Amino acid sequence: MTNTFGLIGYPIKHSLSPWIHNQFMKQLNIEGTYQLFEIEREDLFAEKIKRLKEIEVDGFNVTVPYKEKILPYLDEIDEQAKEVGAVNTVLCKNDSWIGYNTDGVGYMRALLNDYPHLEKHSRILLIGAGGAAKGILHALLQHGFKQITITNRTIVRAEELAAVHSMIATKTLKEVESNLHSYDVIIQTTSVGMKPNETKSPITLQHVNKQAIVSDIVYQPLKTTLLQEAEKNNLSIHLGHTMLLYQAQYAFEIWTGQRPEVAPLIDPLENILKG
Ligand code: ATR
Repeated sequence: MTNTFGLIGYPIKHSLSPWIHNQFMKQLNIEGTYQLFEIEREDLFAEKIKRLKEIEVDGFNVTVPYKEKILPYLDEIDEQAKEVGAVNTVLCKNDSWIGYNTDGVGYMRALLNDYPHLEKHSRILLIGAGGAAKGILHALLQHGFKQITITNRTIVRAEELAAVHSMIATKTLKEVESNLHSYDVIIQTTSVGMKPNETKSPITLQHVNKQAIVSDIVYQPLKTTLLQEAEKNNLSIHLGHTMLLYQAQYAFEIWTGQRPEVAPLIDPLENILKG
C-alpha cells in the first residue's frame, strides 16, 4: 500500500519536512510520497482543503499561516492541540480528520535525548509566550517539571500563559537577565536570532548559572548568537534542529504507528543547514 503524506502552508518551497519524512519512509521500508500542497491565497483555503479531502491523503502537516485556520475542518482534536489552539499534524483515517500538535512532545523528546537525567525539580526559564512556548510549556508540565518561569517582551502575554497553570511565575526580560543564576535550564522559544537577524539575542548571559543548559528552538542558524554565548561561558547547549526532527518523528508515528529513528538524520540535517 502506498501512502500519501504532505504539507500545507505558505511559503513551503524550502521546507525540510519532505526530506525528513522521505528518510523515515526509507528507513522503515514504507512506500509513499510526501507532497507540498502550497496554499498561497488564504481566500482559497476552503476550496484547497476540499480538494485535499478528495485525493484521500493519509496524513499531512500544517504550517504557517494555517495552524489555526485548519481547526474547523477537523473531526477531532487531541488534547495538546486543543491546549495550544493550533494543529501541525493531521491524521486522515476512515474519512475523518484528527488534529494533533507535535511540537511540545517533539521538543521534550529532543531535550531528554540530549539530557536524559534532567531533574524534575530543575528550575526552568521559558523565553517567549507564543504558540511554540505554549506547546513546550504544556509538555514540560506533563513531564512533571514544576518550577517554571516565563519571560516575554510583552509581559501580559507571559502572564496570560502563566495564568492557565498554577505555580508558574512570570518576570520581565530585564528582571530575569539580572537574576539568571536562578535557572538550571533556559529555553528560548521566540524567533529572535533567526536568519536574517542572526546577530540578535533575547537576553545576555552575564549572570548565568555555570551549570545551566541553554536551549534554543531556532535552527537557522544552527548555532544562534545565544547558543554561541552559552558556549563561550562553557555551558551545555541544546540545538533547535533536534526538535524539528523529533516533532516529525511523532507526526510519522501518528500516521503509520511506527517510530523511526532520529539519530541517523542528525548529522545529515546539520550539513544541509550549514549549506
Ligand atoms: P510562534 O508560534 O512561533 O511562537 P508567535 O505566537 O507569533 O509565534 O510568538 C512569537 C514570540 O516571539 C512571542 O513571544 C514574541 O514576543 P511578543 O509576545 O512580545 O510579541 C516573541 N518575539 C518575536 N519577535 C521578538 C523580538 N524582536 N523581540 C523579543 N521577542 C520577540
